[in-house]
Amino acid sequence: MTANISQWQPVCRAPELVPGRFVEFRLREKARQPEGMPLTGFLFLDGGEPRAYLNVCPHLGIELNWMPGRFMDSDNLFIQCSTHGALFKPGDGECIAGPCQGDALTQLEVREHEGQLEVRLPE
Ligand code: FES
Repeated sequence: MTANISQWQPVCRAPELVPGRFVEFRLREKARQPEGMPLTGFLFLDGGEPRAYLNVCPHLGIELNWMPGRFMDSDNLFIQCSTHGALFKPGDGECIAGPCQGDALTQLEVREHEGQLEVRLPE
């Protein structure tokens, strides 16, 4: 039975993901909770490794960024929510400061397939 397994979705060609670039995308799949809500995400290089998260702040469930492609704090160390300033570790999405401290971003699975970077929701 494979009905609940998320499908891989291409986001961009692998060479397009250069350091410092954040590629935003909309998932084909909708949220399970609340059911049917559109899902967006972002993909970037974390120390050379492609990494992707849902663009949803665990505090209020809204998008993190207020400008396209801008997700990092002014020191370029942490992903920052533009609404109340929560800071998240790029490597695992853990919130280390702000109203959702101890919570985490939802990480997506990433793979390179036929020259494309693809993402899918974790099981
Ligand atoms: S909505 Fe992100 S910190 Fe409040």
